[in-house]
Amino acid sequence: MFENKLPIPPIAKPEFSEEIDGRTMDFYSMTIENFDKQIYPDLNPAHMVGYNGMAPGPTFLIDRGRETIIRYLNKGNQISAVHLHGSATHAVWDGWAEDDIGPGQWKDYYYPNYESGRSMWYHDHVHGHTATNAYMGQAGAYILHDAAEDALGLPSRDYDVPLAIADKKYQSNGDLVSPEGETQNFYGDVIHVNDQPWPYHAVEPRKYRFRVYCMSLSRPYNLWFQDASGQSIEFQIIGSDAGLFGSPVSSSDLTISMGERYEVVIDFAAFAGQNITLSNALQIPIIEEYENTDKVMRFVVGDNVSDPSNNDGVPSTLNPDVNWPEQKDTVDHVFTFQQGGDGGAQWSVNGLDWENVNNRILAKPPQGATELWELRHSGGPAIHPVHIHLVNLQVISRTGGSRGVLPYETAGLKDTVLLEPFETVRVLAFYGPWDGVYMFHCHNLVHEDHAMMAAFNVTLLQQ
Ligand code: C2O
Ligand code: CU
Repeated sequence: MFENKLPIPPIAKPEFSEEIDGRTMDFYSMTIENFDKQIYPDLNPAHMVGYNGMAPGPTFLIDRGRETIIRYLNKGNQISAVHLHGSATHAVWDGWAEDDIGPGQWKDYYYPNYESGRSMWYHDHVHGHTATNAYMGQAGAYILHDAAEDALGLPSRDYDVPLAIADKKYQSNGDLVSPEGETQNFYGDVIHVNDQPWPYHAVEPRKYRFRVYCMSLSRPYNLWFQDASGQSIEFQIIGSDAGLFGSPVSSSDLTISMGERYEVVIDFAAFAGQNITLSNALQIPIIEEYENTDKVMRFVVGDNVSDPSNNDGVPSTLNPDVNWPEQKDTVDHVFTFQQGGDGGAQWSVNGLDWENVNNRILAKPPQGATELWELRHSGGPAIHPVHIHLVNLQVISRTGGSRGVLPYETAGLKDTVLLEPFETVRVLAFYGPWDGVYMFHCHNLVHEDHAMMAAFNVTLLQQ
């Protein structure tokens, strides 16, 4: 444990760039490829399928306003569909679950990248196999930078690190246990960060920005930083799914569920020469919890700062104009996330069957409307992080359970919000700027596949 280095995925490089009508387009070419990854030195490698034959896939670093076209060529042997989670993408490139790319086929996806800086991720979304494909490696970070954010003086470059957390399970021969066929929940006993079990990362005694991604299938986390004497260290949460908060929120822990992202800044200055452990306080109540799922990774703090000129601050105002939606109090739609549904579904939204194409568009917000949606958890022990494509959500309230909204859930905009048993969460969002049919679903990818997913149609206004 904590013996292997934290892998930092390579940065994706465009094949070429073009000016089109004064707009800059970057063209990237990616493959979906089988590869072997040796996790346990004395056992067989794990057989995986990932973008450009690696997991996580290469990290995209994109400047706001530069548009991208990304070709995904499927060299694997199962269908895929690619979704850029967190992006306001036109529907045709949003990774619709039935718009699959078969083995040997490719699709070009266009992303406008016009939104503010944020930590997005790209992952598989194909109907019925999303859990397997994402788990076996089809997931990576896609980070949008903007000039206002770059001017803030936040830790950057080597001090700005994506941490993709996911739990996995291995067979005794060293290969992964596949979640294919699972219909309930899939919990691993091995915690990966950037696809390395329990890694360590050598850091300097200064501030770091970590972009924390929860890429588990079913496991959420309650993260905290533990110093050598077991004490917890305060840190600042500076942003979430849709980018920077208005101001940082100080915290000693962070609850993050599947699909969510949080950006944190932690200061290692007082810990030169110490080991700091990123720990997990959340045990899954419905299983007998495994032994080491309370540990995530370790930071080994050195004695020197190599680049004192690199930004080491966190301003008290991060984002003076969070793009809050217009306020309203009348609920437009109520959606219940429940066990069981029509057509034999194990999971559903409002009891409806995703496979019934005549009955899966459950909302038709007029393009440009602001709507208040009420998301309800009908009970049962499983949790449901609800992700709504296209939009940025303001979390308004959480009732019905034992907790309200967390301060860091309302400090900025989100695209995924956690529903625990019996909770009701209200989310407000601007439905636009594009029209088209989009998915919303539970981000427990096993639930999504079986088929806790529905659609909404952002409709063009009638003339
Ligand atoms: Cu991250 Cu619809 O998914
Ligand atoms: Cu769920």
